[in-house]
Amino acid sequence: MFRLKASTQSIRNKSTLSRDVPLPFDEIPNLPEVGFGKFASSLPYFSKGHGFKRLFKQLQKLLDEYGPIARFRFLPFTPYMISVADPDGIAQIFRSEGRIPLRMPIVPWALYRKHRKRPTGATIATEYAEWKKYRASFSDHLLRPHNIPAWVSRIDNVAQDVVHRIKTESASINGIVTLTPTIKAYTLEAMSSIVFGKRLGCITSDHNIPIEPQAQGFIKAVDGFLLQHNTYKKHANHTDYIFNVGEQLMVEKIRAKDSTGTDLLTLFLQRPELNENEAIAQSIGALVAGVDTTANAILWALYLIANAPNSSEIQGKIRDEIQSAMGSKLTMDEEVLSQIPYIRACVKETLRLQPPVSSNTRLAPENTTIMGYSIPKGTVIMMPSYTMSRDSNIFEDPNIFKPERWLNPDQKKHIQHFLLVWVHVLVLVDVLQKQKFILYLDISGYQVKAH
Ligand code: HEM
Repeated sequence: MFRLKASTQSIRNKSTLSRDVPLPFDEIPNLPEVGFGKFASSLPYFSKGHGFKRLFKQLQKLLDEYGPIARFRFLPFTPYMISVADPDGIAQIFRSEGRIPLRMPIVPWALYRKHRKRPTGATIATEYAEWKKYRASFSDHLLRPHNIPAWVSRIDNVAQDVVHRIKTESASINGIVTLTPTIKAYTLEAMSSIVFGKRLGCITSDHNIPIEPQAQGFIKAVDGFLLQHNTYKKHANHTDYIFNVGEQLMVEKIRAKDSTGTDLLTLFLQRPELNENEAIAQSIGALVAGVDTTANAILWALYLIANAPNSSEIQGKIRDEIQSAMGSKLTMDEEVLSQIPYIRACVKETLRLQPPVSSNTRLAPENTTIMGYSIPKGTVIMMPSYTMSRDSNIFEDPNIFKPERWLNPDQKKHIQHFLLVWVHVLVLVDVLQKQKFILYLDISGYQVKAH
């Protein structure tokens, strides 16, 4: 007989349970399968509708139909994996994590690196020493909040141009601007200005000058690179393009010795643990990791703000907050960034409703217990952020854009566990929100509307 007890102060009582003696892995609710023995899989469940293109929707359905922990295999002959859509369960996963985040292997990425003999990078490294080598330089120069002030003026410089471009473009064509290409070029220009220490000219303040064709090619290749359902050939073509353009720019930059200040490439090149090839690949990695993710976050923020039932009120609050924080300043700085809690809440609320990465993964580093079940070492665990964001057991009015929820101290305490999922993302968001709201504040004379 098993005794069930609440594991911590729970957000969702029904799922935050642990057992004195864990139940076997086989007792985790299993999705229906077709086929026999090793040929069996739940492929039909995941292929319905838009299939793997909208995996986040299937994982959301899974919570309603099977509960917060479920077991399945996408394909025949593959081991069972699990989905954990529960904040306390996620906390258990992170607590049992070893020294390195072991993620589900993304086969085409790993294959490409092997075929083309490219350095691995932090996202696919599987050995601690290797991961640490790449991760340390990212952490030391970019991913920690205290590194952010060093890059703010660089991003602000790009943002000012992009805002001018949007303003003049909207004045010339009935107030309607197609933002997606502009915002993607903006994040590429901002990231490349961090990587190279100078503007590359992907996008200028003059809307009559089109976005630079090579920049457009790069953005398209990054889009393609991130598509999970590509054939390997297409994936390799996109990645070749990214590396070719990236390497050409890096080599030009190294030869020109024309940095106007600190830049990420130079910082990486100075790291004793990285050789030149690795420093270059790491810099290309920053461009890839920082362009599409941040552009999507900005675009979703604008969309959600524009579509909120109280859109004018939200936009008014943002405008008031930023105007008061800026005072008479003309450029963004660290002090301003510390005085915009409502805007930060808007960023968090955007990432809650539309996380650019809808599901994170881990491989169990050891035999472990999660939500009262034994989980064997090596099991792939999916942590569907999108599903949890939309779960009414976790968030009140989950489908509504309510930045205030991040400002209320009581609610903040409750969603503490949940934040674990985004701990990394939120740190990055510190970088992002600077970009986003520099843009936003400067179009503060305008209302954002969705069409
Ligand atoms: C809204 C923007 C972003 C989102 C949503 C995002 C999301 C993520 C997620 C979900 C992971 C996996 C984390 C994990 O497994 O625990 C990750 C890893 C990573 N991201 Fe981002 N990211 C964003 C922006 C950036 C930027 C701007 C950079 C830097 C240029 C960056 C660099 C990295 C690196 C280096 C890793 C691997 C970290 C590690 O191994 O510990 N990301 N990102």
